[in-house]
Amino acid sequence: MLPHKQIELSLQTAVRAVLPDADVAAVLVRPCDPKFGDYQSNALMSLAKTRKLNPRQLATDVVANLDVSAVCEKVEIAGAGFLNFRLKNSLLGQTLEAAARGEHLFFAKAAQPKTIVLDFSSPNVAKPMHVGHIRSTGIGDALQRTLRLLNHRIISDNHIGDWGTQFGKLLLGWKQILNRAELERDAITELERLYKVINAECDANPARLEEAKSELVKLQAGEAENTAIWKEMIALSQKQFDTIYGRLGVRFEQALGESFYNPWLGEVVNELLRRGIARESEGAVGVFSDGSLPQKEDPFLVNRDSEWVADPALVRKSDGGFNYMTTDLATIDYRLKTWSPKEIVYVVDDRQSGHFKKLFLTFARWKSEEAKNTKLVHVGFGKIMGEDGKPFKTRSGDTVKLSDLMDEAEERAFKIVSEKSPALPETQRKEIARVIGLGAVKYADLLPNRQSDYVFSWDKMLALQGNTAPYLQYAYARIKSIFRKAAETFNVQHSTPNIQLAAPEEFALAKHLLNFGITLEAVADELRPNYLCNYLFELAVHFSRFFESCPVLKADDEAARHSRLALCDLTARVLKQGLDTLGIEVVEQM
Ligand code: ARG
Repeated sequence: MLPHKQIELSLQTAVRAVLPDADVAAVLVRPCDPKFGDYQSNALMSLAKTRKLNPRQLATDVVANLDVSAVCEKVEIAGAGFLNFRLKNSLLGQTLEAAARGEHLFFAKAAQPKTIVLDFSSPNVAKPMHVGHIRSTGIGDALQRTLRLLNHRIISDNHIGDWGTQFGKLLLGWKQILNRAELERDAITELERLYKVINAECDANPARLEEAKSELVKLQAGEAENTAIWKEMIALSQKQFDTIYGRLGVRFEQALGESFYNPWLGEVVNELLRRGIARESEGAVGVFSDGSLPQKEDPFLVNRDSEWVADPALVRKSDGGFNYMTTDLATIDYRLKTWSPKEIVYVVDDRQSGHFKKLFLTFARWKSEEAKNTKLVHVGFGKIMGEDGKPFKTRSGDTVKLSDLMDEAEERAFKIVSEKSPALPETQRKEIARVIGLGAVKYADLLPNRQSDYVFSWDKMLALQGNTAPYLQYAYARIKSIFRKAAETFNVQHSTPNIQLAAPEEFALAKHLLNFGITLEAVADELRPNYLCNYLFELAVHFSRFFESCPVLKADDEAARHSRLALCDLTARVLKQGLDTLGIEVVEQM
């Protein structure tokens, strides 16, 4: 068992001995400042707090029941009740040797795998995917990869926006002003044009709006012609989505669009009405505050001119149509019935946080039993800003299309690669540029705390120095070149090297390697891929310090060389696995 897991288990046993009824699931350890040790746990302080115990006393009692002598030096109680653990050096070496033998890569499968539905990307039909979609798509994909690596069962579901009032205008446009040649050439641009033209006409002319509405009514009634056109629009959009997901290397288990839930929407609203959870208001139907929350935290209220007024979750419009909310309610119900997940996670823009608060509360009122057993989580994120401090746009002020952005990333990376390695054949430079360009964009998006806005900067994200994907990819390729060189001179097929740690840089690198699993667990717990980015960056920094101070191929003797080569190899493997978990590829040579 990995050392951090062993410490956690022993600690949980000791906590149970002192507090038999405690929920020990949150009794975990985390890496800590090397000044204090290798791992730290702050779990006792919160346990003491909820039970009104003296935290230092609780820590003392727990430590008296704790036996981690096989793994750690003496456990220290610090500050208000932290526990600090320092690994035994012998164990550090053993763990690295087991990894070098291929027994593990510093992470373990979750003992209790969870079923989790991950709702992410979810673009809308008949619109181009734009730069903003990189956020939900990239964060969602990194989360699905992390959770899968830890053995959780993930149902990724692309909740495509394939239904709604926009189809009235699109249908009208399709029937009256469609340019077939343009549709062949670039379907999404043509669909976008149809919508824009008709939308402007509807704004100016109520009669046009009526025409669009009647197209929508026909679609909603299942009329054959409109249904066929609508299906064609979806198919054309899906083609665009597939191309982009293919380039990004993102896969979904399911892609049940909004329209999939249509058959259930009427019944959802009827039930909410029948049970008094929703009521009619000005012809529409909505869910209103039940007064159970303080006004400031109640998403069903807004403050207008220092007065709290109702801000209901609308589930049926006055014309009888259903809302985004209605679909999302039916969707939760379907997901629970189909997959019985422990959690449903939505990776969606922070601007929709009000929607999700209302959704989760409404669902809890509708199905209280199910809601108790299922965690509904909104994983929100901030905006992408331009270097001018305004939302990121093209020079002419349009939203940046994702496909254009990916093209530009590859072109810029190609220039850099061609300058650095002009001798490589062009096809190879193109492939390296693809991996570096897309990696740079994805990584720049995953690196900041997801809730903060970040500034999109080509120069920063493509830099070979600093906390960037190219820097990590370069570190990987550099290690690979060490092995290519080694193979010219030595027999490097040494299956079970003895790991000898002597220099402080070797210890620092070794301990950091051990933290890979704990980092993955933190990403999975808090749904924050940026922890993994920072971990990998620090790994590359530790590696380069090690490589500067500890000769590898010129080590004093064969044993030292083997040990250091093993450290190089483990670093490369963790870098590769870590980047893969972020959805980023590597190349053997740059
Ligand atoms: N299509 C929506 C949009 O573009 C996002 C859907 C997110 N998922 C959900 N279940 N509401 O805003």
